[in-house]
Amino acid sequence: MAAAIATTWGIGKEQDLPWKIPVDSEYLEQITSKAYYNDTAATKTISNDRPWHNAVIMGRLSWESIPMKNGPMPNRFNIVISRNPSYKMAPYPHTSLATSVHEALEQANTLMKETQGRVFVLGGGQIYEQAMDLCTHVLLTRIHDPKEKVVCDSFMPPVNISLFAQASHQELEAFVQQPVPKGKQICDELEYEFLLYVRRSSSSDDVVIVDQDKKENL
Ligand SMILES: NC(=O)c1ccc[n+]([C@@H]2O[C@H](COP(=O)([O-])OP(=O)(O)OC[C@H]3O[C@@H](n4cnc5c(N)ncnc54)[C@H](OP(=O)(O)O)[C@@H]3O)[C@@H](O)[C@H]2O)c1
Repeated sequence: MAAAIATTWGIGKEQDLPWKIPVDSEYLEQITSKAYYNDTAATKTISNDRPWHNAVIMGRLSWESIPMKNGPMPNRFNIVISRNPSYKMAPYPHTSLATSVHEALEQANTLMKETQGRVFVLGGGQIYEQAMDLCTHVLLTRIHDPKEKVVCDSFMPPVNISLFAQASHQELEAFVQQPVPKGKQICDELEYEFLLYVRRSSSSDDVVIVDQDKKENL
């Protein structure tokens, strides 16, 4: 799961993001679009020529908030969740409709058998709430807004720290397989920070520490 959250755990306002943080948008695009590598023989065959490596899952309202002049989120397989099985998405390539969170995850897992990629749940509030029990990792961009000036009308449930442990910055970089700005960053009047939470019951193998030499080759 990946989300940008305000101090109040707010995530959206009037079907849009309540903030503009270009570095965060680039980070989300990078980590959800890239090919991931691990040490299994299967992933050594990953081709960089694929049109997508990973699947992104989102609720119908979040889907409709994407500026469609460029179509769906590029370089990713987009799965949209709606209770309406006849919901019409324009005939975009690499998109599909699911009528429940479980169906979306099933579709994504089937696709990932082909690419060895990752599945990212990208919101919004309704979908975060339902997927929280199912996800292994929560990538957060925590926006520090101590005066709670950022007004939101949609929220995600707080990450339960008895179920998820905060990873170190090194573990975050190993997980996303790229350097990540460390500590508080500044954008206009907002401070923000990139964080990772890992489900405590997850196998410790899920967070693979990549040694520095290997990381430079990723
Ligand atoms: N800060 C962030 O990282 C972030 C990320 C994503 C989105 N957002 C923001 O979040 C807000 C949107 O969130 P939201 O909670 O209003 O909407 P949402 O979660 O994006 O979508 C809700 C829709 O998903 C479908 N849905 C929900 N549960 C379902 C289920 N169990 N089975 C089938 N379909 C289901 C329904 O579609 P139908 O009505 O078609 O049945 C529902 O109306 C926007 O402001 C957006 O900008 C923020």
